[in-house]
Amino acid sequence: MDYSALLLQIENQLQTVHKKGQNYMNIEAMPRVELRRVIEGLGAIIPVEKDISQKQQEKQTSFPNHPDQSGMIQYKNTHPKFFPPPADIAENQDKGNKVKQQSLTKAFAQIVIHQESAKKINTLSELFQKYEDCQRCALGKTRKNLVFGRGLSNATVMFLGEGPGADEDAQGEPFVGRAGRLLTKMISALGIERSDVYITNIVKCRPPENRNPTPAEISCCLPIIKQQIKILNPKLIVTLGNIPTKTLIPELPGITKARGKIQQYENWTVLPTFHPSYLLRNRSAMPLAWEDFKKIPELAFNN
Ligand code: URA
Repeated sequence: MDYSALLLQIENQLQTVHKKGQNYMNIEAMPRVELRRVIEGLGAIIPVEKDISQKQQEKQTSFPNHPDQSGMIQYKNTHPKFFPPPADIAENQDKGNKVKQQSLTKAFAQIVIHQESAKKINTLSELFQKYEDCQRCALGKTRKNLVFGRGLSNATVMFLGEGPGADEDAQGEPFVGRAGRLLTKMISALGIERSDVYITNIVKCRPPENRNPTPAEISCCLPIIKQQIKILNPKLIVTLGNIPTKTLIPELPGITKARGKIQQYENWTVLPTFHPSYLLRNRSAMPLAWEDFKKIPELAFNN
């Protein structure tokens, strides 16, 4: 089941009925729901097994019976928390209904953040311990190793890829396959050791067949990368390719346009560039990537 595609379809259908003037939806055994809220925080309408009988679920929707086994966040007993939706969504709604619609990724991320425990985590190893057995999405079932990240715990530069491939999954370390060897060479060519930087990915578990991670998978992992960035507090984040770049800064254009231009993600400087796998397939892009890489020492190591 491709959950994110299904949710996108539902989102589009809800928007269509909303545009036609329908403002509310009634679902048996659930509170009367304002459609606008559902669209803006879609995760909140996933039915909860304990709260809604099997029969009602089948009647209402085509959602699978066990959303948590299909790559989704667990929603057990969560929906009361999201009616009204998380404060920041509600707050935006109060500002005159003109807010841009939340992307699915953002909506999911907010829900996951709300489910995070309040325990304060101060180090990367504490963060790793918290997530090492993570089963928040279906990738947890197929991975060999969770690939958390590797490098200096006070590195000034973080390289951010998309997700582990087969080699990374087998070894539990990011960027150790073909693309990783190219990345390591490019880092060394700058006169920097790989061990002096921090390398990680947006998703920590290998998507099967090396497919792109889905928005729901990205959202499940987003709290981890956000905390990694906060804890490491690097001077520079180098995003490798479209997925990490647009996950941090969704409004940017594609990587071909965005590359090489300094960006800001919250408190951090971001340098988007091509993914090494793309460079392996498109050698002619190498000079452009190298132009970007040459900016790294100045941005990450100069006071
Ligand atoms: N590609 C990525 O994005 N990350 C890895 O760790 C390896 C390949």
